[in-house]
Amino acid sequence: MGDESQPTSGGSDSEGDQPIVRVVDLSKTYHTDASEPIYACRNIDFEMREREIVALTGPSGSGKSTLLHLIGALDTPDSGVIEVAGEPVTGIKGRRLAEYRRRVGFVFQRFHLLPTLTAADNVIAPLLPYKTSFDRRAKAKQILDAVGLAGREGSLPSKLSGGQQQRVAIARALINDPMLVLADEPTGNLDSQTGEDIMELLFGLRERVGASLIIATHDPGLAARCDRVIQIRDGRVIKDTTRPATG
Ligand SMILES: Nc1ncnc2c1ncn2[C@@H]1O[C@H](COP(=O)(O)OP(=O)(O)OP(=O)(O)O)[C@@H](O)[C@H]1O
Ligand SMILES: [Mg+2]
Repeated sequence: MGDESQPTSGGSDSEGDQPIVRVVDLSKTYHTDASEPIYACRNIDFEMREREIVALTGPSGSGKSTLLHLIGALDTPDSGVIEVAGEPVTGIKGRRLAEYRRRVGFVFQRFHLLPTLTAADNVIAPLLPYKTSFDRRAKAKQILDAVGLAGREGSLPSKLSGGQQQRVAIARALINDPMLVLADEPTGNLDSQTGEDIMELLFGLRERVGASLIIATHDPGLAARCDRVIQIRDGRVIKDTTRPATG
């Protein structure tokens, strides 16, 4: 078993081995009209290192989105524990929950842009409940520039292509300088070149802001470029493969 624990890419200032994400025996069951409950996540365990880029793969309905929603505290598990940066996520409420959501960027499977808001206002939207010490509009513009949307700050989502809308959704996930980005099929509905650009953008986050990433994807090419692939099926982890570090 590969248990070499030497750090990979340089520049990390993390002290020691605290995982960025720790998931222990996590389960989520949905009860619907169907006679059988749906076991969307079953006894899932994994740990993820800081700055790691993890692909979450598995067939449609295997539980990828459910797991991301649980880690992002958008939904609550039936049992199990989630810790992010050493702090519990499960069971937190109120201020601490709001604080946690601020530190995590979520790119939704469907972009979930607000149709009546411009690109810039969509990017700023997660900041609305908070006071900030910086100029939000300037920061939104800077991030939109970085994702290749310079000059489109004032466009409504309906005037943007699918790939451009996805870039706005990614920009929105970055406005809070997240320590962890959860991206749910970020290239799912995009043509291959646009998908490639979005991938470059996401992978660049590790270098630019030191973020760790979990990317749910059906794209084997994307998964192959991640540090690690966690395959799930019927709500269970069936395979967890870490790529050997390359020079
Ligand atoms: N709110 C819900 N209520 C009932 N069942 C749900 C709910 N959300 C998800 N499910 C069910 O849980 C299972 C896992 O769904 P999930 O969306 O996590 O799968 P997925 O791996 O993301 O699929 P896809 O690749 O199609 O996005 C599916 O059987 C789904 O129908
Ligand atoms: Mg999904």
